[in-house]
Amino acid sequence: MSHVVRLDRLLTGQGYGTRSEIRGIIREDRVTVNGEVERNGALHVDPAKDRVAFDGELIISAPAPVVMMNKPAGVLTANGDGLHSTVMSLLPDKWRTRKLMPVGRLDMDTTGLLLFTSDGDLAHRLIHPKRHVDKLYRATLDAPIIDADIEAFESGIPLGGYKALPARLTRDPSDKLAALVTVQEGKYHQVKRMFAVRGRTVMALTRLSIGPLRLDAMLRPGACRALTPAEESALREICGADGS
Ligand code: URA
Repeated sequence: MSHVVRLDRLLTGQGYGTRSEIRGIIREDRVTVNGEVERNGALHVDPAKDRVAFDGELIISAPAPVVMMNKPAGVLTANGDGLHSTVMSLLPDKWRTRKLMPVGRLDMDTTGLLLFTSDGDLAHRLIHPKRHVDKLYRATLDAPIIDADIEAFESGIPLGGYKALPARLTRDPSDKLAALVTVQEGKYHQVKRMFAVRGRTVMALTRLSIGPLRLDAMLRPGACRALTPAEESALREICGADGS
């Protein structure tokens, strides 16, 4: 079915930015219609027939990708507090303008796998404790773990008035001060607090995976990439966001 729409509304509707951001983007000659730069946001286009492109990339009425980042230390998982740099500032423009939001939070000094999506339902499912989506971390500690720590994590560490869900704790064979821990929820400073209850200090923390999705070892700190279709469908399947 043919459906004409104003160019600026098409761009905002597809999540490329707010109305004023789109005005700027159009003025910067970043939008083309059928191969020609278009500076009139009020132009009516038919997305089914006209080839509308932003920074050379065709706009199709498809949802934004799910993106993984290897979060570096020293950046906040937030939209910006004016003081610190944030993970949003590391996202390439083409994704930042598509309303991608971080899924949950990693502490300022935590590194590793951070996901971004514009799909609020998917984000909610991935972080909700009820869904039990495993998050695997590698923690470097001030002292090695002992068997009693493994058992305590398995029985559920008390965190204030709350008992954490059972967590799998194992030794990292490559470093006697490192441990691998899988948690099913993401409470504030959860991993650091769980180790603190056992008398350990976390010196460094990296998230290695979320459910079936592993951090791409080729991503340097601060870099990101879109999930492959296979990665995205495995992730959606694990949390029931695949429509099943
Ligand atoms: N647990 C923590 O303590 N910090 C994080 O960033 C993630 C999990």
